[in-house]
Amino acid sequence: MNINIVTLTIIFPEEKLFWREKYMSELVRFGVSLSRELLGRFDSVIHRKGYASRSEALRDLIRNDLVEREWQEGMEVVAVIMLVFDHHSRDLQNSITDLQHSHLSEIISSQHVHLDHYNCLEVIILKGLADQIQKLADMLKSQRGIKHCSLNMSTTGERIA
Ligand code: NI
Repeated sequence: MNINIVTLTIIFPEEKLFWREKYMSELVRFGVSLSRELLGRFDSVIHRKGYASRSEALRDLIRNDLVEREWQEGMEVVAVIMLVFDHHSRDLQNSITDLQHSHLSEIISSQHVHLDHYNCLEVIILKGLADQIQKLADMLKSQRGIKHCSLNMSTTGERIA
């Protein structure tokens, strides 16, 4: 198969000064070789998403991968759990509250929103070890009466530039 190889020059990065001083003193450029077809697809995706440059899009991909690794390796992370449930469900509100009280060291904040006569939204902001947060999310999700539970996995930002 005939593959056209093209080379990109990636520029890293114009980051915040405090991070730059702490971890990095210079901008690094490196070349990436990939097929023209793959680059074409990448360009069309980043164009749709509104990236100003390939460098910025590639930085985001790298950051996403690093954050995923923080979770896989059980590091300290930040997360948001969102729960939608019917507060008429028997004992559900109590179970949700009990579970949160047993994870005090991870929970930074929580907010309860009454969506309508039946439905409630609870948003829980957490910072702690990935395993503990995942465990809490799993326990909340498995409670009877929960209509939807999502875990948004993010980062403390300390290891990400
Ligand atoms: Ni409510």
